[in-house]
Amino acid sequence: MHWTTLYEQKKCTAAQAVKKIQSGDRVVVGHAVSEPARLIEAMTADAPRLRDVEVVHMIAMGDSPYCRPEMEGHFRHNALFVGANTRKAVEEGRADVTPVYFSEIPALLRGSLSPDVALVQLSPPDSHGYCSFGVAVDYTKPAAEAARVVLAQINPRMPRTLGDSFIHVSRLDAVVEADEPILELPPPAVGEVERAIGRHCASLIRDGDTLQLGIGAIPDAVLLFLKDKKDLGIHSEMFSDGVVELVEAGVITNARKNFHPGKSVVTFLMGTRRLYDYVHDNPEVEMYPVDYVNDPRVIAQNDNLVSINSCVQVDLMGQVVSTSVGLRQISGVGGQVDFVRGANMSRGGRSIMAMPSTAAHGAISKIVPLIDEGAAVTTSRYDVGYVVTEYGTAELRGKTLRQRARALIGIAHPDFRGGLREEYERRFRERF
Ligand code: COA
Repeated sequence: MHWTTLYEQKKCTAAQAVKKIQSGDRVVVGHAVSEPARLIEAMTADAPRLRDVEVVHMIAMGDSPYCRPEMEGHFRHNALFVGANTRKAVEEGRADVTPVYFSEIPALLRGSLSPDVALVQLSPPDSHGYCSFGVAVDYTKPAAEAARVVLAQINPRMPRTLGDSFIHVSRLDAVVEADEPILELPPPAVGEVERAIGRHCASLIRDGDTLQLGIGAIPDAVLLFLKDKKDLGIHSEMFSDGVVELVEAGVITNARKNFHPGKSVVTFLMGTRRLYDYVHDNPEVEMYPVDYVNDPRVIAQNDNLVSINSCVQVDLMGQVVSTSVGLRQISGVGGQVDFVRGANMSRGGRSIMAMPSTAAHGAISKIVPLIDEGAAVTTSRYDVGYVVTEYGTAELRGKTLRQRARALIGIAHPDFRGGLREEYERRFRERF
C-alpha cells in the first residue's frame, strides 16, 4: 500500500489516538522541546479511564500534567532527569527517579525499560514517507523503535533534520496533525560571573578543537569568547542558538574534525526558532541516537575533544556533584559523564567542569571540604579534568590530593577561602 494511503488511514484526533494506551502500560515521551504536547494533554484528559500508567521522560519542557497530585493512581512519572516541572512530584514521593547515563537509555528501552507506547513529535513525511525526529533523536527514536505502539504528533513546524533521524509512516500506529510552535528555550541571561567563567573556559580551547557544550548560561558565555578562534567543530549531545552565531561568523566550520569532518554531530537541540530554521534540511548538521553520539568510545574518536559541563558542588578531592543538593534531586546526569570520559580518552582531549563559585546569592560556597550528606557524586575524582569558576581554573588531572585542594581553594570565592584553608591545614598537616 502506498504510504499516503497508510497516512490517511492512521490520521485521527489526539483523543482517539490515546485510546491505544491501556492501564498498566509504560509510556515513553519524546525528549525536551520535542515533547508532543497534544498527545500528553489528551492522555492526561483520559486519566479517569487509566490506572497505573508509567510515564517515562527525560528532560520535560512542558508542564508535565501527569505529575499533578490529582493524577496519583492514574499516572506515575519515572524521571530519567528531574527538571523544574517534575521536581515537586519527586520530592513528594509521587514520582520516581532512575539514575542512568544518557548514552545507556536506548539499551534500557530495548531491555528492562521497554515501552508499550511511545509518544513522539515528528516532521511531516517526505516524498518517500519518512518523517524526521527533528529536534530530538536521542532516546526518542530508539523509544519509537522499541515500542509496541507509536503515537505521532505531526507538526509542519518541526524541522526536518538529517542523519539517522527518520521513521517511516508505516511504523506509526496513529497520526495526529498539529500545526503549532515548537517549544523554545530563550537564550539565558549571561551575567558578569558567567562571562568571567566563559573567558576562563575559552582560554582552554584551541583552534581546531571539537566542542561539547551543556545547557545554560555558562555554555552560552563560553561561546561569547570564542569569536577569535578558528575552525572549531561540534560533537555534542545538544546545542543551542549560540552555535548558530559562531557558524555564521565562520568560527565553527568543522573543517579540522578528524571524525565526521565538515559536520556538527548532535543528538538533540534546544533553542529558539532561529536554531530550528538553521537545522532544517541542513546537511551540515547530522543527528544520531544518543547511544551513538554519547558513547564515550565514539566521542573519543574525535581528537582534541573539549567537554564543558556544569555542577553544583566540588569537594577538595575533586569529586563533582551535579544532580543533587544533598538528598534533593535537582537534575540528572545527562551526558556529563559520557562526555567527560570521552574527552579523557580523546587524543588531546580536555574536560571542563564550570560553575559559579557560590550558590544562593553568595551565601554558600560550591567548593567545599566535604560534599553534602546525601549528595551523589556525578563525576568522580578519577575522571575530573579542569574545574573553572569566575576566579580562574584548577587543573586536577594527575594532581595529588594536596595539589588539588590548593588549586581548588585558589578558585573558591574569597569569602570562603579562609575556612577552606583551615580545612587544608587540618587535613594535610601543613601551613597553606
Ligand atoms: N548548594 C545549595 N544549593 C545549590 C548549590 C549548592 N552547592 N548549587 C546550586 N544550588 C541550587 C541553586 O541555588 C538553584 O536553586 P533554585 O532553583 O532554587 O534557584 C539550583 O540548585 C540549580 O542551580 P543552578 O546553578 O541554577 O543550576 P543550572 O541551571 O546552572 O544547572 C546543573 C546546573 C548542575 C544542575 C546542570 O548543569 C546539570 O544538571 N548538570 C548535569 C547534567 C549535565 O551536565 N548534562 C550534560 C550537558 S546537557
